[in-house]
Amino acid sequence: HRGRTPLIAGNWKMNLDHLQAVAFVQKLHWALKDAKHEDGTVEVAVFPPFTDIRTVQTLIDADKIPFSLGGQDLSAQDSGAYTGEISGAFLKKLDCGYVIIGHSERRQYHAESDEVVASKVQAALRHDLAPVICVGETLEQREESGPTAVSVAQLRTAVEGVPAGADIVVAYEPVWAIGTGEVASPGQAQEVCAALRAVIAEKMGEDAAARTRVLYGGSVKSANIASFMREPDVDGALVGGASLLVDEFAAIIRFQK
Ligand code: G3P
Repeated sequence: HRGRTPLIAGNWKMNLDHLQAVAFVQKLHWALKDAKHEDGTVEVAVFPPFTDIRTVQTLIDADKIPFSLGGQDLSAQDSGAYTGEISGAFLKKLDCGYVIIGHSERRQYHAESDEVVASKVQAALRHDLAPVICVGETLEQREESGPTAVSVAQLRTAVEGVPAGADIVVAYEPVWAIGTGEVASPGQAQEVCAALRAVIAEKMGEDAAARTRVLYGGSVKSANIASFMREPDVDGALVGGASLLVDEFAAIIRFQK
């Protein structure tokens, strides 16, 4: 991974209320007491529902828990009459460093187009949040246009106009592998992650490509994390279901041992 710090990110989706969130983070911290994330060898990030973020922030601040924090989405707007929306400024105020943008569930259930994703990426950068830009193809699209075309096109639009020095993360999440238990092979993940790094090089330059972390997501578990991390262009994982299980998520974070 040529100097890139691996990132293990837990996307809780619409799970854990704020009380459950506290219990979960405390247990996870305990389970990781002597783990590598304490010395920065691997970065751990959690992405709770919006209503949990304040509570989790208070806890990790008070107990000096070395987890990064992020939102699962944000508004493309900065403030104003947008009922139900959450601004990047609000996330930043709660010490979020990251925000997930363009998750396939947002694209599918909230009709987020590549253009909406791109404007949210800009909104994140305006508020000094690192966007975790999600891309990935359905099974149908893979059969039609091959493994890389859809993800490459999605990322090209998302990073249009993003400055070379911007801090971004890319997550390759094949839709057919999300929550299905049907995991991509390490070789399949590597192929697309390498193509995505080439998009970063093309749009933002070689330095950005060398620095930017590209994650794999889709049915990641403790039993398969090591096989992904052996691939040169996979710099970590965006974990859904397994990020809600303390021992399982802790084992994923400990993959290097
Ligand atoms: O964002 C993570 C994700 O969509 C993968 O979910 O449950 O397959 O790990 P899961």
